[in-house]
This record gives sequence, C-alpha cells and structure tokens, in this order.
Amino acid sequence: MPWDEIVARKFPAFEKELDGISKTTMDNHYKLYEGYVKKTNECRKRLVEFDYAEIEGNQVFSDLRAVSVDYTFALLGFKNHDLYFGHLGGEGGEPSGRFAELLEGEYPGGVEMWKHAVRKAASAARGWVMVGYDLNDGSIFNYVMDTQNLWAVYNMVPILALDVYEHAYAGDFGATPDGRKQYVEAFFNNLDWDHVNRQLAQAEAARKGAEEAGANE
Ligand SMILES: [Fe+2]
Repeated sequence: MPWDEIVARKFPAFEKELDGISKTTMDNHYKLYEGYVKKTNECRKRLVEFDYAEIEGNQVFSDLRAVSVDYTFALLGFKNHDLYFGHLGGEGGEPSGRFAELLEGEYPGGVEMWKHAVRKAASAARGWVMVGYDLNDGSIFNYVMDTQNLWAVYNMVPILALDVYEHAYAGDFGATPDGRKQYVEAFFNNLDWDHVNRQLAQAEAARKGAEEAGANE
C-alpha cells in the first residue's frame, strides 16, 4: 500500500505517574516525538516531489542527499519513540514470557547475564539500546545505537527500545554517567513486559509467515 502521513499517537504511559521519570520529562519528550512526526512527513513529501530529472545528486552535499539522510533520522525518531513510550507505564519486575525464554537460550549466562549486558550497553550507547529480534535467524540481541538512525541492522525488529539520550534523563537524574544508570533502573521499573512480549509475538509471527510463504514457492 502507498505511504500515508504519520501521526503522533497517544500512549497510556502519559495517563499515569511513572516511578522516577517525571511528567515534565515525559511531556517535553513527547514534544520531541511530535517534531519527528512533523519532519518525517516534511522530508517524505519533499522526496516524492523532487524533480528527479533535474535535481543534483551529489555525494558531498546536495538537497537530495541531505533530505534523504535526515528523513531516516526523523522517521526512526518516530519509530523508536513509538516503542519507547508504548512500553512504559508498566509494573517493571523481571523479564518474562517468551522474551525471557529467548534470552535464556541466547546468552550463555541466561537472563541474569542479559540484565548486566543491557545495562552496560546503555552506558556504551550515545543514543539508544535496542533489543531486537532478527527475522533471518530468529535470534534476540542487544544493539547499541549512537543516534536514532545509526547502527541498526536490516531485518532486526525492535522489541525493547531504551532511549539514553540526555533528554530522557538529565532533568530527573542529572546528565552524568551515574544519573544515566539511575534512569536506566527507573526505565526498567516502569517497563510493561506484556507490551515487550506482544512486540516479540508479532516479530515471531512475521518470521513464521515468511518461512511458510517461502516453503510454498
Ligand atoms: Fe528521546
């Protein structure tokens, strides 16, 4: 189906008091999300309205190049925050369900090892940590991203999205490495593991569907 303009969604996390992450931080964060929606639509519109017979394609600088690159920053700003806000507002606790089951098989030290790994990834990333499901091999893994459009890999479906940009925590915890660590704990305390497992179920269904379609070729 053809692309349609995206719109900012409402999330249950904004209807409740989160543990440690303030309403002010969330409201300001939502304004950034709305900005990504606006700029995604703007970039996409320009990209379909360019006169490609005439426009310059230059790898050093060109309008086409600039809009194409910034489009991915805006669109992934939308997608990443859609998941981030979507799975906040939960009760936290231990990883559960199928998600925990896959982690147990993936990491030699199981869920306990992953809990350390994801926290260290949050200190090593400049922008995001994605826990993603690979549609090609069915594995689950932590991905460190320096911006919202850098270092993700193809066919990785984000299952859990941890925003570690300073705007996510500086106001509540301070823009320090320790502040970030406290924020990461707050993030997990507010995580809705059912939402995480729903994401995973969708990704696994997509992989299964692709396999079945392949088998029928
Ligand atoms: Fe953010």
